[in-house]
Amino acid sequence: MEIKHFTNRALWSESTSKHDFPRLTGDIEVDVAIVGGGITGLSAAYNLVKSGKKVAVLEALQVGMGTTGSSTGNLYASIDEYLFTIGSKHSEEALKAVVASRLSAIDFIEQRIQEYNISCDFRRVPFYLFTTADTSAKSNQIEKEQQAAVKAGLNISKSPPENFPFSVDEIVNIPDQAQFNPLKYVSQLALALQGDNCQILENTKVLKVEEGEPCTVHTSHGTVRAKQVIMATHTPKGIYAVHTAMEPYREHAMAVKIKGELPAGGIYWHMQLTQHYSLRPYIDGSEQFLLVLGEAYKVGHENDTAQNFKKIEEYVRANFNVESIAYTWAAQHYKPADALPYIGNSPTEKNIFIATGFAADGLVYGTLSGMIISDLIMNKENPYAKMYSPTRFTPIASATKFVKENLDVGYQLVKDLLFYGDADEVKDIKIGQGKTIKLNNERLAVYRDEQGAVHLVSGICPHMGCAVHWNNGEKTWDCPCHGSRFGIDGEVLEGPAFTGLAKPKHSH
Ligand code: FES
Repeated sequence: MEIKHFTNRALWSESTSKHDFPRLTGDIEVDVAIVGGGITGLSAAYNLVKSGKKVAVLEALQVGMGTTGSSTGNLYASIDEYLFTIGSKHSEEALKAVVASRLSAIDFIEQRIQEYNISCDFRRVPFYLFTTADTSAKSNQIEKEQQAAVKAGLNISKSPPENFPFSVDEIVNIPDQAQFNPLKYVSQLALALQGDNCQILENTKVLKVEEGEPCTVHTSHGTVRAKQVIMATHTPKGIYAVHTAMEPYREHAMAVKIKGELPAGGIYWHMQLTQHYSLRPYIDGSEQFLLVLGEAYKVGHENDTAQNFKKIEEYVRANFNVESIAYTWAAQHYKPADALPYIGNSPTEKNIFIATGFAADGLVYGTLSGMIISDLIMNKENPYAKMYSPTRFTPIASATKFVKENLDVGYQLVKDLLFYGDADEVKDIKIGQGKTIKLNNERLAVYRDEQGAVHLVSGICPHMGCAVHWNNGEKTWDCPCHGSRFGIDGEVLEGPAFTGLAKPKHSH
């Protein structure tokens, strides 16, 4: 019953044909440089190009292959932390604005699909949040969500549809939400936008951004000068105050084939006692998949992340007749302190714009970020800009989490730097395992590969100096402070760090 092999590949990345875009060659000058070719960057590019701006989208890998391509493809007005949280942390007005802004972003996606005839399996479907008999202790939360959704102006129903695959205790059913294939959407949008005024540049890794007039973006293949820079990188690269007001989480996902019929199209959030599992069906030609996502944990805080895949497998097998497990992967998200993302002008740099803190709701918030930031750049009024501004200060809503998060970062710095394993421990590291040790007064991250060879890199995160932790499910080095992640040879995979883990100072 146990999964023998973690694919670490998202369903979309395998089943979508991607387009190749060139890499940057030499130095260029544009109006706006967009760092990151995911849904945030491309949504911003669309609006800016339509308004006559010249833009360059700089993607370290391939378009959509970062967080966008690891998402579920679900588009909904609700949020991962539930709408009632906005009502209680902010106001009824904020609750209405969150829902209205998110619905406007879903409409934006649908309009682009129609405008460019993008074939990405977009469907309007209902969203369901529900409890079952075994999780009925949480049914009061569903009732709270029903009330919040009504206050926000959503039409809801409280009954499950026919052939619902679960026996429901309490449910909120929100019609007219949507789902699609996120990678097909962004790669075709990029193709439609590519042109003289919109350069889409792949395999172009940004190494440093200098604010100025103009700003200078240093990349692996040349320099881009731009009046403004948008950090559309999920969390901004470099050192920003917002990093201290967010918690980085990873969540595990699995795409399985089931015997019999898939549930009808829909977004299914099954409330558990400490979290919810998110499920959706996906049909790709003759292939049918059920996606299951859950078991979020704080990056760098769990030793045995492989365990999370097992828990999801147990859940899906308990509820469906599973034929095979096709894909397993994980995706990162950043939870903001006051349950609202940070979208807009960087508080300390007038020509840099950031978009982060989307929690697990990034496809919609990413699209919304593109809409808001492009309006800010073009000096257009945007009804939601103020509410999501990174300069906002909400001491009451953020206080507890903010203090806790910063205490945790401080604790990680001290705890990890005081504790070292011992050099002798290298020989105890088994095939496929990683561990941090102290050698010649240096903290090192050590991994033994399948052939028995040892890979050594510095164990100190180059972002702000925290110690990295081993992630056994994905075989990566993860930083518990602000979520930077690195491969076994130190290459940076995601997060605010620009550069990878250093080579050890002493050669061994
Ligand atoms: Fe900030 Fe590692 S991500 S110190």
